[in-house]
Amino acid sequence: MQELLIDELKDLYSAEKQIVRALPKIAKAASSPELQEALLGHLEETKGQVVRLEKIGEIVGKKLTGKTCVGMKGVLEEGSEVLEDTDKGVVRDAALISACQRVEHYEMAGYGSAREFAKLLGQTEVAALLDETLSEEKNADKKLSAISKQVNAEAKRQG
Ligand SMILES: [Fe+2]
Repeated sequence: MQELLIDELKDLYSAEKQIVRALPKIAKAASSPELQEALLGHLEETKGQVVRLEKIGEIVGKKLTGKTCVGMKGVLEEGSEVLEDTDKGVVRDAALISACQRVEHYEMAGYGSAREFAKLLGQTEVAALLDETLSEEKNADKKLSAISKQVNAEAKRQG
């Protein structure tokens, strides 16, 4: 079980690093100032999540490097397809939100599982840190849902 937890943590570490690399480009491609601000805000938050995972790595006494989260790689690749398939504008924004919410949900699943593993293993500090990030991901997802209401309505108006 401990091994499974470490494996999940490595996966999340790789996923967060990939997101830090991808978000600036995605934010730049957005037209809505609210969306851009939300994405850049989440970029900063994500950098904090990387640091938090490094702290968790110190607690469990393992380096979290050396693994590639293939799932997140795929989710982000789909996100960059949006940039190829759409022109800058509100329809692209709607597609970007959809892609980013996939990222958040993928992360929520990973952090939720890892937190439960940590709890089960009696590693309360690790569980609490994972829960902090899980809350941030949930908030980011909610924020995107809120922004999508306006963006989708506008995209519909434009046909
Ligand atoms: Fe994250």
